Formats: sequence, C-alpha cells, structure tokens
Amino acid sequence: MTGADGISARYRDEFPVTKELIYLNHAAVSPLCRRAAEAIRWLADDSCQFGSLHYDKWLESQAGLRKATARLINASPDEIAIVKNTSEGIAMVALGLDWKAGDRVVAFKEEFPANYYPWLRLEKRGVQLTWLSIYDPLEKIAEAIPGARLLAISFVNYLSGYRVDLEAIGKLCRDHGCFYFVDAIQGMGVFPIDVEKHYIDALAADGHKWMLGPEGNGVLYVRRKWLDAIEPVEFGWTNPANYADYSSRDMTLRPDAGRYECGTLNTVGCFGQRASIEFLLEVGIQNVEAAVMARAAQLDRGLRAKGYDVMIERTAATGSGIISFRHPAIDAKMMVSELKRHKITAAPRQGWVRLSPHFYISGDDIEQVLRALPEVKK
Ligand SMILES: Cc1ncc(COP(=O)(O)O)c(C=O)c1O
Repeated sequence: MTGADGISARYRDEFPVTKELIYLNHAAVSPLCRRAAEAIRWLADDSCQFGSLHYDKWLESQAGLRKATARLINASPDEIAIVKNTSEGIAMVALGLDWKAGDRVVAFKEEFPANYYPWLRLEKRGVQLTWLSIYDPLEKIAEAIPGARLLAISFVNYLSGYRVDLEAIGKLCRDHGCFYFVDAIQGMGVFPIDVEKHYIDALAADGHKWMLGPEGNGVLYVRRKWLDAIEPVEFGWTNPANYADYSSRDMTLRPDAGRYECGTLNTVGCFGQRASIEFLLEVGIQNVEAAVMARAAQLDRGLRAKGYDVMIERTAATGSGIISFRHPAIDAKMMVSELKRHKITAAPRQGWVRLSPHFYISGDDIEQVLRALPEVKK
C-alpha cells in the first residue's frame, strides 16, 4: 500500500472509533486519538491515586503543549498561550487591542460566528467593518487592506471547506501594516501553518477538531512583537510575572504569551492536546494533508457521480477536509440520520450534509459511504 492508503492503514489502530463507526465529522468534534485518551487516562489515574503529588509532571504537560504547538506552526513556545477554546483566543485579540474610533477591520461574511461577532462588536467602539467574501478574488481583498488596522479570516471555512491562501493574504497584510488574525481551527493539524512564511500575527484554535484532542482546550499564538499591544482582558493571579509568589502585589505581566492565561489551566485538556499534537507531528503534517485531500477528493468525485449538488468546486489549492453536499428532495437532517443508521457520522449544516474525513479514514470507508447514499434521480 502506498500514499494515502498506506498512511491510513498504518495508523488505523490509533483510532478505536474505526471499530464502531465511519467517522466523518472532524469538522465538528473529533474522536480522541488513542494517544490523547491514554494521556488523559494517565492523568485521571495519577490524580485519583496521588492527588497533586506529581504536579511537576502536570506542569510539564503545559510546557509540552506550548512546545508541540510551536513546532506545528513554526512559532516559539513563549508565543503560545493556553486558552479554553478558539473563541477565547479571538476575544483576547479583539478586545485586547486599543481600538480608536475610525479604525477599520476587514472581516468576512461567511465566517463561523466565533470569528464574526467579536469583530462586529467593535462597532460599539467606533471601529468600521469592511465585510468581504472569502470567495472574493485576491485583488478585491488587496483593495480593502490599505488603511485597515486588522484583517480576520478563517484558514478553512467551516461550511464549504474553502481554504484560503494564507500566505498571499498575509503578505498583503504585512505590506500594508495590517494585523493578520487567523482562526485556524478547521485547518490546523491537517495543513502546514507557518506563522513566519504566512505572516500571521495571531492565531487561535481549539484542539477538538482536526487536532484530535479533547474539547475545552485551545491555543492562542501571538507574535512576540504584539504582546505589549494586546492587553489581557481576563485578569487573575497567573497573568503577572510573579504569579508563583502569592504575597506579591506586583502586576507586571509575564514576559511571554502566558500573560493571557487567567488562573489554573485545564490540565486534563493539556495532557490530551499535547499528546494529540505530538502524535500528528509524528505522523507528519504533509502525510496527513495528502491523506485528507485524497479522501475528500474521492468523496467529491463520488458525490458528483451520483448526481449530488456539492457546495463548491474543489481545487488542489482551495480544497480541504470538508465537503458539503445536498440532495434536491431529501432534507439534510434526514440524510444525516439515515447515514447514522449505517454507522456513518456526518453533520447537517444549514441545509447541507457536511462530511469531514481525517487521515485514518480508508478508501474503502469512503466507498462504503458512497454506496450508502441514494442516487439522485434526474
Ligand atoms: C471556523 C470556526 N471557528 C471557531 C469554531 C468554534 O470555536 P470554539 O473552539 O470557540 O468552540 C468553529 C466551530 O465549529 C469553527 O468552525
């Protein structure tokens, strides 16, 4: 076996879910990979038997998560904050910058609400919004950037799966001094992200989708040069540098992105997310990308051959692990329930059936899914 088939076969045992389901819902909530489950189990047993006696090891999981995340996106561990989800990361940037009336933000109308509302709310502070479409040609985006203070976009759209050209948009932002914010949750773990090559200033993602980790734990990257410009908007005992000294009343901030962390972290989440990112790094993001793209392309071909309406045209540059389609006569929720009867997990989204296979899904799994779907009668 070679290529995508070789990779999915090699790692299939790392995904116990394959014994129960054909799981095509990683764009919603992924099943835990075995490594993450084992790490979480270790912590549960440790805490159960010893309380916090091994706290050093718990702290190590936080440092390990920062390090693994930094490797995944070519950042430095001190530019990584551990947050509770993508939304918290986005809010930290949206609320933490010192906006002035008349500042302008470029945002995109097809975004998931998490990367829409925080920018829209800035209107209350006199910030102007320029709303574009993620499908707009680069020239149109280029026209909107000069004079804008910040541009916020998702790497991969949650519904259509459209993947933007991170580098091209980032370069435009950099050339015009516009802060470049990326909601990375639908692409991180599958596609290479390089904050240097892509000119990213800040990025947020939770671990429970393509990173194969648990819910309720995410990461926020903030480029070092912006740390002092983004105020921590949640303030507690761990934001200051002296936080280990409980008698201190010195609020000087931590020198790193840890300044955005407010209080005790989600240790269970850190164990899980660290293990899942380290696992993905071991598999190799290029291998993950190739396998996900092969499976999604197989679905795309098969769905079109059966007569389905697929939401967008797929290309090598803009395709992702998300494919949304619909039947002209059968409601998406009905289709998803029907697939569930066949032990296939999908999601209904705004009238579309959304499928999102990860790299361990085999070509045979996809054929089985396509067989389970009725032909569209013309
Ligand atoms: C693009 C995008 N951003 C953010 C989120 C959710 O973020 P959070 O981790 O805050 O729940 C989703 C969830 O579907 C998403 O698709």
